[in-house]
Amino acid sequence: MIKRRLLIAGNWKMNPSIDDSVSLAGEIAAGMDSLKGVDVLLAPPFTALGVVREAIKDSGIFLSAQNMHWKTNGAFTGEISGAMLIETGCTHVIIGHSERRNLFHETNEMIDLKAKAASLLGLIPILCVGETLEQREGGHTFKVLKEQLDLSLNNYRSVGIMPPSTILAYEPVWAIGTGKTATPSQAQEVHRFIREWLETSFDSKTASQVRILYGGSVKPDNTADLMSQEDIDGALVGGASLKPDSFLQIIRFS
Ligand code: 13P
Repeated sequence: MIKRRLLIAGNWKMNPSIDDSVSLAGEIAAGMDSLKGVDVLLAPPFTALGVVREAIKDSGIFLSAQNMHWKTNGAFTGEISGAMLIETGCTHVIIGHSERRNLFHETNEMIDLKAKAASLLGLIPILCVGETLEQREGGHTFKVLKEQLDLSLNNYRSVGIMPPSTILAYEPVWAIGTGKTATPSQAQEVHRFIREWLETSFDSKTASQVRILYGGSVKPDNTADLMSQEDIDGALVGGASLKPDSFLQIIRFS
């Protein structure tokens, strides 16, 4: 069995100022000195990408954006392209976060275009899926996830190849920013489902290589239990990534 390297990612959302981003990134980078065996990634707001890149230089921390447009350039007022993210030093980009899907009406089709554009440019997508509380309580979790996966990874499916560096993130909407975490077994059940979907849609090698992160109220005290699950390959952390101490504790969970 291929051992997947854990990834702990901090999604800062629309939070820190440029100055706060510099100190947050600097403290995280300084606290990573003796760290081995875990990848770490930070996703600051667009405005702080440049300063965070400098603050994490030589630390081994990966830089990610929180969104991108699928076109390279053109008349798309207010948008940022993948090419621009690469120019800013990003190696990764979060795509299809539930806040983008629900608050900004992003469709699976748009997310599919973004995933395709990101990988053509050499940016690694962190593609998010997840069900709402209503969908879970109605017993529709797996149907919803299958539809999100099928449609938002349609370009990969149509060629039968998904770059193994692609990262998926399961973020149940009901667990985001609510303090309500999926139990380790609830999360594992969904992660297993996603891995089986990868195997059916691509092949067993892809399924064994692609990392699937869990996101939704990850905190220092629940990280170890979540990370002990076979199909959970890391965490996408929101609120707790905004405090250097709690993010460093999550990184050092083991
Ligand atoms: P919280 O960790 O604040 O629940 O946010 C999770 C998230 O949305 C990460 O992308």
